Amino acid sequence: SKVWAIVPAAGIGSRMQADRPKQYLLLNNRPVIFHTLSRLVSHPQIEGVVIALSANDPYWPSLNLPADWPVHTTIGGDERADSVSNALRLLQNLTDTNPWVLVHDAARPCIRHSDIDAMLQQLGNDPVGGILGVPLTETVKRVDANNHIEATVDRSGLWRAATPQMFRLMALSEALTQARQANINVTDEASAMEFMGLNPKIVAGHADNIKITLPQDLALAALFLQQQENGEAA
Ligand code: CTP
Ligand code: MG
Repeated sequence: SKVWAIVPAAGIGSRMQADRPKQYLLLNNRPVIFHTLSRLVSHPQIEGVVIALSANDPYWPSLNLPADWPVHTTIGGDERADSVSNALRLLQNLTDTNPWVLVHDAARPCIRHSDIDAMLQQLGNDPVGGILGVPLTETVKRVDANNHIEATVDRSGLWRAATPQMFRLMALSEALTQARQANINVTDEASAMEFMGLNPKIVAGHADNIKITLPQDLALAALFLQQQENGEAA
């Protein structure tokens, strides 16, 4: 059965220090968000995308997306979780069922179909759902307020959380609502599910699914997209 994607794209990209939000910067001649949406709408299991945009976003209308892309827009909020909640509310009006929803950052244009396939296969029969992630590769230190090392943290079992994050529409809206009412600031969807006492799974994804965050990330993403198109390993 089909799933939906939700794309939070209402951020301002302050750490990118560019003249516009990072999702509209050019990557191999196309805006970042064009690549992200292209990867999602071309996936055979994805029925459509709901994207949350800033109010009066001047860049979105000039994107000129192909008219046959099933992309629905709504307005985002102050926090990423608010943007996702708004998109879930619109999605509830678009479907009578309780589909799986893949929440995916606008700023992750290098998402591979094979990673989405892995999620659908490994989580499709799960009662909760889960997220894409990557095991840590570097040694991790815990430090005190004066930057003195207190401990080397056991790296086994530590992962970087990525997106997509895949949960049922109703369960995720409820979890985000509860977290908001409790004044818990959740930085990803899994955190909201964890707040509900649930234990989402983590699915190992490719390390090239980076979130464009800092200025140097743009060139990296351009390289990764090119490598993927050439069928080279990451
Ligand atoms: N996002 C959103 N609504 C917000 C904040 C963020 O939809 N209120 C989106 C961003 O557009 C991005 C994704 O959530 O696609 C991940 O957030 P992040 O990488 O932090 O992007 P920004 O918040 O735009 O960047 P920064 O934190 O550097 O300002
Ligand atoms: Mg942010």
